[in-house]
Amino acid sequence: MLNKERKFKVVSLFTGCGGLDLGFIKAGFEVIWANDFFPDAVKTYKKNIGDHIILGDITKIPSSEIPDNFDILLGGFPCQGFSIANKNRSMEDERNFLYKEMLRIVKDKKPAFFLAENVKGLLSMHDGQVVKMIIDDFKKIGYEVSYKIVNAADYGVPQKRERILIMGNRLGVKNEFPKPTHKSPLENNQRNLTNDKLKPHISVKEATEYLADLWISYNPQIKDGRKIHNHIARTNVQDKFWGRKHKVNQHEICDYLKHWRNKKGISTKKVDEYFGYKHTAGHWFRKDNNSGSIPNPDDWWKLKELLEFDDKYDKQVTELELKEIKFEQSLRINNWDRPSDTITATGPEIHPNKKRRMSVRECAIIQTFPDDFVFEGSLGNMYKQIGNAVPVLLGEHIAKTIKKIMVENNV
Ligand SMILES: C[S@@+](CC[C@H](N)C(=O)[O-])C[C@H]1O[C@@H](n2cnc3c(N)ncnc32)[C@H](O)[C@@H]1O
Repeated sequence: MLNKERKFKVVSLFTGCGGLDLGFIKAGFEVIWANDFFPDAVKTYKKNIGDHIILGDITKIPSSEIPDNFDILLGGFPCQGFSIANKNRSMEDERNFLYKEMLRIVKDKKPAFFLAENVKGLLSMHDGQVVKMIIDDFKKIGYEVSYKIVNAADYGVPQKRERILIMGNRLGVKNEFPKPTHKSPLENNQRNLTNDKLKPHISVKEATEYLADLWISYNPQIKDGRKIHNHIARTNVQDKFWGRKHKVNQHEICDYLKHWRNKKGISTKKVDEYFGYKHTAGHWFRKDNNSGSIPNPDDWWKLKELLEFDDKYDKQVTELELKEIKFEQSLRINNWDRPSDTITATGPEIHPNKKRRMSVRECAIIQTFPDDFVFEGSLGNMYKQIGNAVPVLLGEHIAKTIKKIMVENNV
């Protein structure tokens, strides 16, 4: 059989509900074994993909229980320990070491390729030491290793989602990452869309608008000839929120804080340390409407302990009142005419023009799951599975690129 016709075999770790796996399946791969310890994700996987997923903790599964002779090991090893959103990023966090499970299985089974996916924050963690440690460990067992940051929006996913891909092969060939197919229309000035054949990014509106007025329901519904499952959403969107009572000027506050910080001779790094890396205090000393910010009241009082500034702005910064929410002003609002912000595993965003959060189905569409992919479990666990996933379409692009290298090298 020509290897072009051979179905390359996949073993998948930290599989979740199977976003990455589905991308590989769409590209013609066969997943023969998968694993996760999150029961609802395993249920979803079984319902939509297959029974080859094992529920269990990978640290307790010996390599002998995993099939031999597969071509690629996939694993989006958990990112909590690495995430920049995490307050206590630490080398000691045992979740950081779950990549060792991938390393063990690659070492024991020697697949031609492995592919790991993780949050971008992995790169900067401990000044790059963590990513270096991971790469060195795979190199030591004979793999050619490379990494790349990719943004899902550049592959036709209606979502800005930056992730690091770490790829390795033991064929001694160059790893290749998929080439973007889309780009931001804002880049049109620099690059001509028609010349380089890149299509414009897909917006949330294009992808999900047809569901905006559809009734939220646990029952499947038909809309525009499509069967809509899981169009359910959190509706705990308050009409009011606590906002500042007085007008504050970010530039003024920034100058003021800088003045007191200089007076005390304290660096931003020291301020960060004082806050226990909980904050990137740099924002408070940055006079820039896009990335600068004013401390919230709790931070203000804590900062005052450190910088010992006077009372000039105390009232302005810390007095709050209950205000009406203006949806278009909400911080967590979804971009409607652009790709969505990253769909996370915790709270879905508020719908741009509805008093509800994005529905499970809308999040699934933004993650490029097909309409007939049905999620199992509680509402919160559905959102979690979707937020954890690699967008299916991005997975498919990665898979096609790897398949090409496999075919060219007679794997
Ligand atoms: C970021 S998600 C991966 C999602 C997946 N790549 C996708 O595309 O849908 C990480 C997964 O690792 C699982 N996990 C974490 N620790 C585990 C362990 N010790 N054993 C098995 N699964 C684990 C979590 O339950 C979670 O589903």
